[in-house]
Amino acid sequence: MTTDAQPLPRTAPEDKSMDDLVALCKRRGFVYPASEIYGGLRGFWDYGPLGTQLKNNIRDWWWKCMVECPPLGPDGEPVSIVGLDSSIIQNPKTWEHSGHVGGFNDPLIDCTESKKRYRADHLLIYLIREGDLNFGVSTVAADEAQAEDIRESLEKTGDPPQGFQDKLFVKRLKQYKGGGYVTFKLGTTATPEELAITFSPEGTKQGTLTEPRTFNLMLDTYPGPIRDEENKAYLRPETAQGIFLNFKNVLDTMRVKVPFGIAQIGKSFRNEVTPRNFIFRSREFEQMEMEFFCPPDESQKWYAFWRDERYKWWLSLGVSEENLILRDHDDDELAHYSSACVDVEYKYPFTAPGFGELEGVAHRGCYDLTAHSKGGDNKDSNTKLDYFDQELQVRLQNEGVDKETIKERSRYVPHVIEPASGLTRAVLVLLCEAFTPTPDRDGSKYIMSFKPKFAPVKAGIFPLVNKDGMPEVAQKLYNELRTKHMVEYDGKQSIGKRYARMDEIGTPFCFTIDGQTLEDQTVTVRDRDTLAQERIALDQVSAWLDAKLAE
Ligand code: GAP
Repeated sequence: MTTDAQPLPRTAPEDKSMDDLVALCKRRGFVYPASEIYGGLRGFWDYGPLGTQLKNNIRDWWWKCMVECPPLGPDGEPVSIVGLDSSIIQNPKTWEHSGHVGGFNDPLIDCTESKKRYRADHLLIYLIREGDLNFGVSTVAADEAQAEDIRESLEKTGDPPQGFQDKLFVKRLKQYKGGGYVTFKLGTTATPEELAITFSPEGTKQGTLTEPRTFNLMLDTYPGPIRDEENKAYLRPETAQGIFLNFKNVLDTMRVKVPFGIAQIGKSFRNEVTPRNFIFRSREFEQMEMEFFCPPDESQKWYAFWRDERYKWWLSLGVSEENLILRDHDDDELAHYSSACVDVEYKYPFTAPGFGELEGVAHRGCYDLTAHSKGGDNKDSNTKLDYFDQELQVRLQNEGVDKETIKERSRYVPHVIEPASGLTRAVLVLLCEAFTPTPDRDGSKYIMSFKPKFAPVKAGIFPLVNKDGMPEVAQKLYNELRTKHMVEYDGKQSIGKRYARMDEIGTPFCFTIDGQTLEDQTVTVRDRDTLAQERIALDQVSAWLDAKLAE
């Protein structure tokens, strides 16, 4: 018997409930709150069996696309990228010279009355919501028309329009961080002092808020037996610096020449003041970062290349194009080390119809290698992190360039293009993208519609009933498939309940052994999204599944 395909109902991100998704993740073993039996710990999460598998599938695909089979470069030449796994804790001088000790801060404001502490940008939001509407709105809106929209939304719903927060408030925060005062689009400026004269959310009188103080986001630790300032070290807030520190080691020990990249996946830690939105912003998370070293005069070409490649990569995970954008940073948003940056942004249920960050592709120039290089401002490093470009030397010689210029141009500090993304944030993106409420279907209330290649479990294998020789055939098929793929055998409960469970964990295919199998050696295969059922030959199941997972 075959059953026709039905289209999978599409749900707009703004109609997906994060509460329902978080509940499903807990119920089905994707993500649990960390140390839950002790009441949890804010900003920390544990990945359950299925969440771990999903995360590993994304991680492996990134590694394959970056390190094992990188794309051809802009000139059609193979791109060379090698892998690294550097230590989470490095010499603390690393973070002094990278700028993190001095500059990796959030602005915090204290209330002297309630003793509560707030992030300055969150207080701005508070002012708009609870305080002087006009003050808040006119200070964050781009123009009067937008100010009117915001006022209307606040009056009707008590919230700014959706998508507004992440765009403008985050921008305000960055300006706060950078300049020490807020520059408003309408052309007015306000010092933190002026902002602080308004009331505190939990205070009873005005004038209780302090000036913003910077709060460093790095978590510290004390390796060894003595806990004093001298022995203080940091848990890395990004994997990138471990790559810069090993630039020379890789250059000296591997057969690489500029341009080339070093890629790394691993844990990073940030003492986020307000971890939020499930695993979107946590205090412990995983990153996938690649530093691509290139000659300074080729950096724009490589920046454009990685910008496009990275966008395509996210599409390859099955993320739909309408939920994914590239957003170039304005000059005033750029980090201190960066001369250009573009974010890949996703339309999360909590940002929709706006978008939130997923990956940044930054042009870091020669900032990091120079900062860690012996000489100049750095009296701690014992190594010069520059590069002698032999090919360029020969080319310049052939062009008849004079010796002095050749000497000057062939040794340089490479520029760096950095695609930096969050692995745990990628898990969130795939969870959000796959999450599909199906209230009108029999059985499953939700389908996790992962692209088959990334689904934690690739197939369910069921005997229709637990008798008449069906379990034996199903078990034999399971034993064959389990040597290649993550598959599950399930012979318990009704077939409808078994399908429903597979739908909720996102298993794309279910093979059922029934009475007909025993007669003609065929099985039914059911498609999770379309519910279509077709019969295929039992001895073709393995090849059929291989082909589907290769798509
Ligand atoms: N090396 C550059 C760098 O770390 P970033 O924009 O701060 O740049 C890169 O971080 C990516 O890491 C972000 O795009 C995001 O996906 C992820 N990320 C950053 N902070 C995070 C957090 N607190 N929780 C989860 N993911 C985070």
